[in-house]
Amino acid sequence: MLNNSDLILVAGATGGVGQLVVAKLLEKNLSVRALTRNKSKAEKMFNDQVDIVVGDIRYPDTLKRAIENVTHIICCTGTTAFPSQRWDFANFFEAKNSPQIVDSEGVKNLILATSKNIKRFVFVSSCGVLRKDKLPFNILNTFGVLDAKLSAEKALEQSVLSYTIIRPGRLIDGPYTSYDLNTLLRAKTDGKKGIILGTGDTLNGDTSRIDVASACVECLNYEVTINKAFDIINSGERSPVINWEKLFSEIS
Ligand SMILES: NC(=O)c1ccc[n+]([C@@H]2O[C@H](COP(=O)([O-])OP(=O)(O)OC[C@H]3O[C@@H](n4cnc5c(N)ncnc54)[C@H](OP(=O)(O)O)[C@@H]3O)[C@@H](O)[C@H]2O)c1
Repeated sequence: MLNNSDLILVAGATGGVGQLVVAKLLEKNLSVRALTRNKSKAEKMFNDQVDIVVGDIRYPDTLKRAIENVTHIICCTGTTAFPSQRWDFANFFEAKNSPQIVDSEGVKNLILATSKNIKRFVFVSSCGVLRKDKLPFNILNTFGVLDAKLSAEKALEQSVLSYTIIRPGRLIDGPYTSYDLNTLLRAKTDGKKGIILGTGDTLNGDTSRIDVASACVECLNYEVTINKAFDIINSGERSPVINWEKLFSEIS
């Protein structure tokens, strides 16, 4: 169970899922450390309510301060599946922040930097990692994003860390990139679909970033999610109150 003495590091805290994870942790009065490459962006977003540490998962030396005394890590880092500005091209042939570099090597750097005493390492992966030869995932994987995610998943599974791997479908809702904390806390999936969890990478569909963020936080309260990988999508009718205990019991 999460408690007040815990300190949760959110990597990718300024991203679409990451910022919602931070908001949900703060809503529960938990202590949060945000790992970001962009201090001013994080300061503006989180109103000084979190400990902001500047770091880049490509460079292990920048992670030392970030992982000090943390009890949990929620890793929501990522880049685009297809070439974009966010790949940070050095030249036409060389991207400095491609999926291979961020989603595989970067996440492995964070795993390696993490103390074995940590209570949980949550990793946001993706649906399709075990179906890379099937549509639409073969297209999504054109530039290797699913290869990179799977490689990081394997590193986590083979590590000594207690982990939970969350595999969302195509993300919807947000990113609320120009919003402040109060807006994030009010973000709702009103009128949207229910939450379906599965195992074995079998689900297809869209997934609300809000629900992924909740799953990242809520799984920390349930031992049944330790050392598990689960898929999450939205489908069917949404119940007014989400029963995470029941949802997680279905993946055990
Ligand atoms: N988009 C989809 O449909 C989809 C589907 C399945 C799974 N996912 C996964 O879901 C997660 C969240 O997605 P999202 O769209 O909400 O995220 P996002 O908005 O793209 O945010 C990604 C975060 O990663 C950080 N980041 C990128 N490179 C980094 C580096 N080298 N070092 C440290 N931080 C770095 C970014 O920080 P900066 O602000 O510094 O750039 C940003 O905070 C990602 O892991 C993504 O791969 C996405």
